[in-house]
Amino acid sequence: VPASRHSIGIGLLGLGVVGSGVARILDEKAAVYASRVGVPLVIRRVLVRDIEKERAFAPDRSLLTTDPEAVFGDPEIDVIVEVMGGEHPAYAYIQRAVETGRYVVTANKEVMAKHGPDLLGLAQQKGVDILYEASVGGGIPVISPLKRDLLANSVSAIAAIINGTTNYILTRMARDGMGYSEALRQAQDLGYAESDPTNDVEGFDAAYKLAILASLGFHTLVHPDQVYREGITAITDRDFRYAGELGYVIKLLALARREPDGLRIRVHPALVHDEEPIAKVDGVFNAIQLEGDLLGRVLFQGRGAGSLPTTSAVVADLIDVAIGLVRGWRDRLNWVREGQATVAPMESLRTRYYMRLTLADQPGVLARIASVLGDHSISLASVIQKEADESAQTAEIVIMTHVATEAGLSKALAELRTLEAVVGVGNCIRVETTV
Ligand code: NAP
Ligand code: HSE
Repeated sequence: VPASRHSIGIGLLGLGVVGSGVARILDEKAAVYASRVGVPLVIRRVLVRDIEKERAFAPDRSLLTTDPEAVFGDPEIDVIVEVMGGEHPAYAYIQRAVETGRYVVTANKEVMAKHGPDLLGLAQQKGVDILYEASVGGGIPVISPLKRDLLANSVSAIAAIINGTTNYILTRMARDGMGYSEALRQAQDLGYAESDPTNDVEGFDAAYKLAILASLGFHTLVHPDQVYREGITAITDRDFRYAGELGYVIKLLALARREPDGLRIRVHPALVHDEEPIAKVDGVFNAIQLEGDLLGRVLFQGRGAGSLPTTSAVVADLIDVAIGLVRGWRDRLNWVREGQATVAPMESLRTRYYMRLTLADQPGVLARIASVLGDHSISLASVIQKEADESAQTAEIVIMTHVATEAGLSKALAELRTLEAVVGVGNCIRVETTV
């Protein structure tokens, strides 16, 4: 240990769900970490918005500040831990940290997905690094395995559940019949949701995470805007019930695959057969399945959100940086980019579909539906009549299709909507397999 280093100084940006977990664990496990690193890890400053706010855990009050200059101007700070969230001002703060020669540990998937390549390039120029294990899958180690342990493989596919909030909501709605708003409120109370939960329920958070995983796994640059995205807000209790009767669960899947016309990369709800391993990943748990040419499939699973699981990943990155600083290591394995892949258009996707339609309860209607679908090369695997509303003279049917193209499906749905006999298209959800 160089005599000049008596401690590693930390500037903590944010003291919310994750930040207070990090502060608490650095305090509780100070002696363990000092022994692992060789010197103590010491929080020197904590940036917050409101010093008076009550917190789950707070270090010495004198460390709290609302002035970023108090953090960046402190020469004893070696590492900035960014756990504020959001794109701005977090992006500028990470940039500032790197420009002033600080290492950065961040849990911010939005900043890393949108600006990771620029920030990592800048860090390389400045001889420092940015570590972001907590940005995907909460406490699950997946960034580090992609950067290191899987480097001998060519990754061909990623299939994942990477948003704890939506997985918690979907599980509570399907298992316990809980309403959407109540399930979301619980996910917020448990500290899983983003400060604006639209990011979770509309699939933005999962799209950021998938862009990060795909960039690392496929050694290319995937911007989150290139990820096809749908959220979970259109799913109803009927969809859960009918899916269950057919032997499926509904999950918000994040899927990426190398295909002949480019990378197919998407986040959307999907019916998954209830016997598949990923179908059993419930509540706040996340799972990331990667497919490598040498290893085959590997599944990482664990708590994908929450204070201490996320703290586990943040503090591990911090210890990694601290050990490097103490021992004078400069280089570590990082994202290796090998070119720019094209993204396959959604229209060429081939998959199966679940469709819930409300139809006029008249003879011959089903034949007309089948004929429209057939015109677009969509063949039916099963059709089940669910509920009939005698007063409205309508019936609800659930159709499961064989494999069809997304382009054919979109055209068929547009045509179905024009038919007088089609009172409503309740929902249309892709049916996926991950095995
Ligand atoms: P949070 O509970 O909302 O905490 C955010 C903290 O940042 C608060 O302490 C807040 O200060 C501070 N902050 C926000 N904007 C600020 C600004 N402009 N200036 C100064 N301080 C500011 O958020 P979180 O759940 O801990 O999440 C933090 C990050 O970790 C996000 O990027 C999130 O995506 C990521 N993450 C979260 C989880 C999780 O389970 N929660 C898991 C993995 C990754 P005040 O307290 O004074 O308002
Ligand atoms: N809001 C995120 C989630 C936090 O629910 O998965 C973990 O990244």
